[in-house]
Amino acid sequence: MSQKLKAAITSVGGYVPETKLTNFDLEKLVDTNDEWIRSRTGISERRILREPGKASSDMAVKAIEEILRKKNLDPLDIDCIICATVTPDMVFPATANIIGDKIGAKNAFGFDLGAACSGFLFALTTGASFVEAGRYKKVIVVGVDKMSSIVDYTDRATCIIFGDGAGAVLLEPSADENGFQDAILKSDGSGRAYLHLKAGGSLKPASVETVMAREHYAFQDGQPVFKFAVTGMADVSAELLEKHNLTGDDIAWLVPHQANLRIIDATANRVGLPKEKVMINIEKYGNTTAATIPLCLWEWESQLKKGDNLILAAFGGGFTWGAAWVKWAY
Ligand code: UT7
Repeated sequence: MSQKLKAAITSVGGYVPETKLTNFDLEKLVDTNDEWIRSRTGISERRILREPGKASSDMAVKAIEEILRKKNLDPLDIDCIICATVTPDMVFPATANIIGDKIGAKNAFGFDLGAACSGFLFALTTGASFVEAGRYKKVIVVGVDKMSSIVDYTDRATCIIFGDGAGAVLLEPSADENGFQDAILKSDGSGRAYLHLKAGGSLKPASVETVMAREHYAFQDGQPVFKFAVTGMADVSAELLEKHNLTGDDIAWLVPHQANLRIIDATANRVGLPKEKVMINIEKYGNTTAATIPLCLWEWESQLKKGDNLILAAFGGGFTWGAAWVKWAY
């Protein structure tokens, strides 16, 4: 029997803007303090894209250019670009198209995928399926968000959490059994009540009233989201391990979405992984939405070994959540 073709991540790139927004900076903007933010979320600082005229696509381009450099890859050889984001440059066209134009990927088609904080996981699964099917050979999956463009810096419930950044991977047919193995993805749209952006869509187009009511900023009712996230991310990770008869001992790294250190700890405990096997950089970058998971892969790339079992896990707006099992391919 012929073995099913697998899709391997063959390179990673990342980008975070230089400007840091620390907890102490936020103390000057809203009624909060460093101690509260660190103990409730694990965040000390986040990066903010400050330059006027720069958007999500510019950060994505920087992350992808790192891959082009490292792999000596001609942009004309890229077949497809999938961009996971909730902060597209514009409502349309897709940011993936803008990225393709900026990097000169003239032969690639592209589209955006909206699954909020689970966006990278959903996009990775989609991209891997294209490669596994034998249809495309070089797929770029990029998770990027300029959260500072939709964060209300007068709302202490949300402004302490989010940051800006981009992370990208290249997917290619695997030379062996390593690569993307499986994923379990879930959505429940009834969760939209707790985490959303009220205006600017077809439900409530932009108007003077929506601007005055500050409805173009991300809204989050933190406690219910926290409750669903803790169980959702931990349960789906455990479900994926059980499905494949894996235990914590088989896993080299947990790569969790970085929304809250307490959610990450709960997931690690549930799948039986000690802290040394969990990628955590929330302290430096906060929650960069679709970029958290690829930014972890980017930062830990040099520590990863061929054959390492990675569990990627996320929970976010939608609600959307899921877990993926990847065998590192290089
Ligand atoms: O990535 C997408 C998915 N998102 C998530 O997974 C985020 C999930 N939610 C969370 O991470 C947490 O709910 C937050 C970090 C957003 C909030 O933490 P919390 O422990 O749930 O705090 P809370 O909302 O229950 O608020 C506790 C107290 C309240 O005061 P009282 O009512 O007890 O007097 C808040 O008013 O803390 C107050 N508070 C703050 N105090 C200082 C809320 N925000 C702040 C703040 N600084 N920034």
